[in-house]
This record gives sequence, C-alpha cells and structure tokens, in this order.
Amino acid sequence: MSATGDNACAEPVKIVIFGATGDLTKRKLIPALMRMMDCELIAQECRIIGVARNTSREEWIQGLHAYVRDEIRDNAVLLQRWPQLERMLHFVEGDLSDDQTYMRLYRALDAIEDIRNVMFYLAIPPAWYVSVATGLKAVGLHRETDGYRRIVIEKPFGMDIESARLLNQQLWEVFDESQIYRIDHYLGKESVQNLLVYRFANSILEPLWNRNYIDHIQISAAESIGIEYRANYYEQAGALKDMIQSHLMQVMTLVAMEPPVEFVADAIRDEKVKVLRAIRHFHPDDISRQTVAAQYAAGELGGEKVPAYVSEPGVSPDSTTETFAAVRFYVDNWRWQGVPFILWTGKRLKKRVSEIVIRFRKPPFNLFDVNAEPPTANALVFRLHPDEGIVLRMNAKKPGLTTDMKRMVMRAPYAEDGHDVADAYEVLLHDVMVGDATLFSRADEVEESWAIVDPIIEAWKARVSIDRYRAGSWDVPGMDQLFEGCVGGWHRPT
Ligand code: BG6
Repeated sequence: MSATGDNACAEPVKIVIFGATGDLTKRKLIPALMRMMDCELIAQECRIIGVARNTSREEWIQGLHAYVRDEIRDNAVLLQRWPQLERMLHFVEGDLSDDQTYMRLYRALDAIEDIRNVMFYLAIPPAWYVSVATGLKAVGLHRETDGYRRIVIEKPFGMDIESARLLNQQLWEVFDESQIYRIDHYLGKESVQNLLVYRFANSILEPLWNRNYIDHIQISAAESIGIEYRANYYEQAGALKDMIQSHLMQVMTLVAMEPPVEFVADAIRDEKVKVLRAIRHFHPDDISRQTVAAQYAAGELGGEKVPAYVSEPGVSPDSTTETFAAVRFYVDNWRWQGVPFILWTGKRLKKRVSEIVIRFRKPPFNLFDVNAEPPTANALVFRLHPDEGIVLRMNAKKPGLTTDMKRMVMRAPYAEDGHDVADAYEVLLHDVMVGDATLFSRADEVEESWAIVDPIIEAWKARVSIDRYRAGSWDVPGMDQLFEGCVGGWHRPT
C-alpha cells in the first residue's frame, strides 16, 4: 500500500546495500527485490550495489544464490528471476571505517550511467550508521543535485532517548529529514496497513472506537523462536526495546490515532505523534504494577526440548535480560481516557501469533436465563500473523428450545491462504523508491516513544533477578495481575 496509491513500477534506482553479506540482505532484501521484479514493481535498469569486506563479487553472488536455492521455500519464481537479478548486481569491497571504500563506491556509482536516483540501505549494526553517513558526505554522495538520495535505517534507532536524539542530530548533519527512512517492518505488514483501511473506510467501527464501548486493548507479538544467533544484540536489548518500543508502539499509534486530515505521510505521522504525546508517563513507583518482565526457562516446543535463555550460546549464565515484556499504557485524551492498552511480547512462547484484541465492555444487563452462563464481552481481533484477517466474537443462541447462549466466532480472512500478502520489505522498499514516507517513523515519533519507555528501562536496569516461564508455555508470572480489572483478563492466543 502506498499512501499515494502508486503501485506502479518505480523509477530506476541504484540500490546500495551496506552489509551485503549479512543476514538481512539474504533473508529479506534480495528475496523482496526479486519478488518486486516478478510483479514489475522495479525497473529492469535498476542496479544493486553490495558493499562488504573480505569477499568478492563472485563469492557474494554465490552465497546469495545458495541461500535462495536451499533455504527459501516456494522458490521457483525466485530462481526463474535469478539471471535477471544477477545482471543487476555490482559489488564494492571495503571496510566501512576506510575512506577509500566510499571513494570506490563513488566511482562504482558514477560508472553506472543513466540512473540518477540512489538509495542507501544500511543493513549493518547501528554502531556504523553515523560512520557510513559521514563517509557518504565526504565524497558528496548525500547531495541531491541530480535525482534523489535516500537513506534507509533499520531498527534499533538508538537504545534510549539520548542515543536516539544524538543519532537524529548526527544524521541531520548529512541528510535532510525528508531523505531519511527509518524502517519499522511491522508497518510494512499488509495486515497492519489494513488496520487503517478497516478503521477509516468503514463507518461502523468509528462510533464504537472509544472509551464508551471499549474496555481495553491488547496488542501482542508472541513468538515461538528463541533469540537464534543474536545473543550479542539481545543481551543489550531485551524484549522491551526489541519489540515494544518499536513495533508494538507503532501499531498502538495506528489503533489509537484520530483520522488524519489527508492520507499523506505527514498528516498520518502528525496523528501518530499526538497519540505518543498523550501517553501517560510512568512514575518510578508505578512501574512494578504496570509492567511484567520474565525470561524463558528450559522447556519443550513442537515435541523438542529447548534450552533456557541463559543456556543459549553467547548469553551470560546469570543474565536477567527479559525475553518477555508487557506494559500497561494509558492514553490520556478524550477518546481513550481510562482504557488500558496492554502491549506484550515474548520469545519461546507456545505459538507464533501476533494480534490486536479490541475487548468491548460487557453487556450492561443479562436479559436471559440468570442461571445460565452470562453473555461474554464481545471482542474484535485483528490477526496480524498467522491467518491475517479479522475475527469477531459474539454471543448467539444455542439451537433448540432454550435461550442458552454460545460463543459465535465470525472470521474474515484477509487473503486466501496468505497468497496475496506481500512481504513487509517489498512494500517498504517500493515506498522508499516512490518517496512515500507514510510507513516510516519520523524523528519525533522515535524520540517520543523512547521518552515513554525510558523510565521502564531505568527501573529494569536495577533488576538483580527475573521471573521465569517455561519455554513452550503461556505460564508467564504476573500477567493475570497486569490484567486486573480488564474484562476477560489476559487473552492467550488460540
Ligand atoms: C525484529 C526483532 O525486529 O522483529 C526480532 O528484532 C523479532 O526479535 C522480529 O523476532 C519479529 O518480526 P516478525 O515479522 O517475524 O513478527
């Protein structure tokens, strides 16, 4: 989806990928670019210039090909596109701390004629963001004298409010805000964008979308995977910074925002920032009641034994990093006053499910058999993953000579078998190419969200121990208490 409604082939661009041999490039960027070729969203003249050290163009290409061939399921279309992709690939060898690398990049770009636009994709650890921006400036590659220059930055964007502010300032010394695209891949998910359409293209939801009818809202991302090979990063980040400050708070802003005046990037981002500004800040004394942190212990998933977080390679045996985090937020404005927004996420949970649950208030009075089960509160669930779509839970009469009730579940899948669902990176790369920043975080959004979670980060720093949950379960201590007073309590995904 593009706010401009522009699903056409984007103008040719030279795509420079820093971190060309990294995981993100082979798992996400290259497959997304190939699928875009298949849908004719990317011009044949485009060129992809990989930058990495200690390898050659041939080795790089072999590595990418082996990944597409051996690791990607349903890869027939991608393999068909391979020869076309290979013709587009260029390579610049070099260290990111070496000025000569940027000089070589300059020459390589200059040698590709007739394409004026350049996108720089930073698929590298955050510690390198500023060095790369400065390196590009030193050779003048940041200047938009001819065509556009856009820089795409992955999360984490800073690790707290101070580092995020500093990073913004350092980037602004090189690029204008309009050239910076801060990626949050959750915003590229079709189902997340669909939320905006459900909200603003249907008139039945809006009258109910407020404190008068909604009891509370849960936004969750449960994962069954562990931390994989990322101990270094995860030990620093933990679930709060990894998922809540970025992905889930972004989704929360879309759920809570007012209708924008226009469907354009800044109008939408203005409304999102207003939500963030209305979020009640945490007092240090409230943090233990408003949050949950826990870490997975050893357990079983899909019939296999899995180790505890502290036994994962690279994790310190006495680590207290949280692999599960939940926060109860309040949005202090007229629409949402008093409605808890509970955001939670965790690794090594029973299932991979990501959803938004809008829990309505209970019916005010039970008109039916008082001896039977009372009606349950309605829930509207936006499934982000898997089985994207919406589910509405209502009460209905059990068939027969009775007024007993049963729960009726109405499901509306978003796309049959998920076939039409584009990957987030396809959507976002295309948006960068057409210059649509709607689905990217603006500097003020990032700073506001850090300012909100900073007191929690501070409070959690002092932690000397942490609660545990069994891997492969939903047994997270403290979650039922966190939902105290919420109709229906904690909704464990089914
Ligand atoms: C990333 C986090 O940003 O998002 C990972 O760093 C997490 O820890 C991932 O696994 C989840 O993304 P998705 O699209 O699989 O829900």
